[in-house]
Order: sequence, then structure tokens, then C-alpha cells
Amino acid sequence: MPKRRDILAIVLIVLPWTLLITVWHQNAIAPLLAIRKDDGVEGKREAGGQAQDSKEYCASDKDIVEVVRTEYVYTRPPPWSDVLPTIHIITPTYSRPVQKAELTRLANTFLHVPNLHWILVEDSQRRTPLVTRLLRETGLNYTHLNVETPRNYKLRGDTRDPRIPRGTMQRNLALRWLRETFNANNSQPGIVYFADDDNTYSLELFEEMRSTRKVSVWPVAFVGGLRYESPKVNAAGKVYGWKTVFDPHRPFAIDMAGFAINLRLILFKPQAYFKLRGVKGGYQESSLLRELVTLNDLEPKAANCTKILVWHTRTEKPVLVNEGKKGFTDPNVEI
Ligand SMILES: *[C@@H]1O[C@H](CO)[C@@H](O)[C@H](O)[C@H]1NC(C)=O
Ligand SMILES: *[C@@H]1O[C@H](CO)[C@@H](O)[C@H](O)[C@H]1NC(C)=O
Ligand SMILES: *[C@@H]1O[C@H](CO)[C@@H](O)[C@H](O)[C@H]1NC(C)=O
Repeated sequence: MPKRRDILAIVLIVLPWTLLITVWHQNAIAPLLAIRKDDGVEGKREAGGQAQDSKEYCASDKDIVEVVRTEYVYTRPPPWSDVLPTIHIITPTYSRPVQKAELTRLANTFLHVPNLHWILVEDSQRRTPLVTRLLRETGLNYTHLNVETPRNYKLRGDTRDPRIPRGTMQRNLALRWLRETFNANNSQPGIVYFADDDNTYSLELFEEMRSTRKVSVWPVAFVGGLRYESPKVNAAGKVYGWKTVFDPHRPFAIDMAGFAINLRLILFKPQAYFKLRGVKGGYQESSLLRELVTLNDLEPKAANCTKILVWHTRTEKPVLVNEGKKGFTDPNVEI
């Protein structure tokens, strides 16, 4: 009996030590390997302050872990692929206190998406230093444009007037840029998506839209006073209408964040733009889409429009309408 107890004691003593040494060993080796891979600036720093640095490594394991994380964060974005269609993201933006925060959040999302080209269009007389710097530092593939919305549009009524087509001139400029930059006959495959800077986007959304043949559609959460708005999809997988409270008889009762367009369609229909004049609130999307497709052409994505992959996040009250009674949207859909 004492024999077995001795063995147990030895195991209990040796095991924790083995674990401790293994963990410590890995922590000490990993950052050195990570740093070795880098040359240039990091290498120079290492050579210059070697004595100091090695003292720091011994002083605290926490500092070493920080170094590794920093190196990791700066390896971005994903490598460019020759086989994936490029997603051209059009974002209108304007100067306001939260602008940099919103654009940073958006850039952080885009940095996870392969073959993404960001077309950022400022509503301003000139491109601002803030946005210029931000774009350059993201490491993303981008095009930086600007056009100022003329006063007679912006100042008609007060700023909450839904008829003011905010972002319209900026989106149109981006469409024109695409048509001037890519040739309809031999352009590389691409998808065009309008992503405002105040929404939240699931990474899954970008892979859903990448296979768009003409125009693909999906639900958008917290819009039109509902938990979500969605295209209605029948058993055959075809879009036949719209789950929305606000004017469901619009030709395309869909939010700007709820559809993507194949680049070829944009290039082959050069007359298709968002209408600037005489467009009622909520009809902006229709004014472009009716030039490009019919209802029958729409391709439902996000599991036949049953999954929420994009959210309006600048909204005070997510649920304004009593949907339960009206039965517009499915309460079981996770949002
Ligand atoms: C930007 O896009 C081009 C192709 O249009 C590609 O060759 C290049 O690698 C991309 N750059 C980055 C940083 O992804
Ligand atoms: C594309 O091809 C058509 C037919 O070959 C030609 O008429 C047209 O000019 C071409 N467009 C461009 C932009 O090269
Ligand atoms: C969508 O619905 C169609 C028709 O019912 C079906 O064939 C298809 O597999 C569905 N797609 C998904 C992703 O659920």
C-alpha cells in the first residue's frame, strides 16, 4: 500500500511541474518566432535594443504576449484571390461627431472579407484629411471620391424630412466611377453593394452576395419600424412580394442594405441611376432597381430570406410596430 501512495505522490508533484514548464516554454518561444519572421523596422529595433529587450522578455510574460497580438493585427486584409469576384462596396459618408467611429467599425468588418474594394464617397466640397488618413491606414483596397449635395436639396424642409435623398448623389457618383473604370465587355467579375456607415454587417452576408447573378436580396433588421423587413419568398424559392408595413406596394419595397447587384448589370445598363428629383421617401431603391430587373429576376439569399445578416444600428426603438397583431414577420426568426 505505501508503495502505491509513493507513486501517486510523485505523479502529483511531477505532473504540475511538467505542465508549468511546457506552458512557460511555449510562451517564451512563440513570440521570438513571430518576431524573427519580420524584417525591416521590427528587425532593426530588435538588433538595436537587444540587451534591453531581452531583459524585458524575462521581466514579464505579459509584455511578450502583447507583442504577438500587435503583429497579428497588422497582417491584413486577406490575400487577393484571382478566382473570387470582387465586391465593390459603395459607402456615402458625411462629417459628423461619430463619423470616424462608424468608419472604423466598418473598416474592421471589411478587413475580414477577401477581394473587397471600398468606394467611399464623401458629401463634402473636398476629400477631408480625416477620411483620407483613415482609408490609407486601413490597408484596404479603396477608392476615395467626393461630391457635395447642393443646398437646394439638402435644405428643403428640416433635416428630418424623409424626402431628402441623403447619399443619393454620392451613390450615383460611385456608379459613374464603376462605369468609367470597368469595360462592360471584358471586366473582371464583380458585385456592387451599398453599405451605409451606420449599419452592422455579418461576414456571412458578403459570401452570400458574392454569387449574385443579377440582383440578390435578403432581410434587413430594425428598419421601417419592424424587427425586420424581408422579401416574401414562395415555395419555389421566388420573390413575390414584401413583408413591410411602410407602403408594401412599392415596386421594390426593400432597404438599401437589402440587395446586391452584379457589376455587369450596372455596366450594361448605363442609364440606371438613383433618381434625384421627384422621388418619395422609400422609393430611392425602386428608382434604381426598376431600371435593372423585374421582381421575377430577384435571387433570395440568406436561406431563402429567413436569416438576418444585416442590422440598422442607428435606431432608437427597434420595434415600433405591434407586429404580433399584424403578422408581418416571423417572431421565431433570430435577429
Ligand atoms: C487590390 O486590388 C488589386 C486588383 O484589383 C489586387 O491586385 C491587389 O492585390 C489588391 N490589393 C490589396 C491590398 O488587397
Ligand atoms: C462591347 O462590345 C460591343 C459588341 O461587340 C461593342 O459594340 C461595344 O462598343 C463594346 N463596348 C465597349 C465599352 O468596348
Ligand atoms: C430555397 O427554397 C428553394 C425552393 O423551396 C429550395 O430548393 C432551396 O434549397 C432553398 N434554399 C435554401 C438555401 O434553403
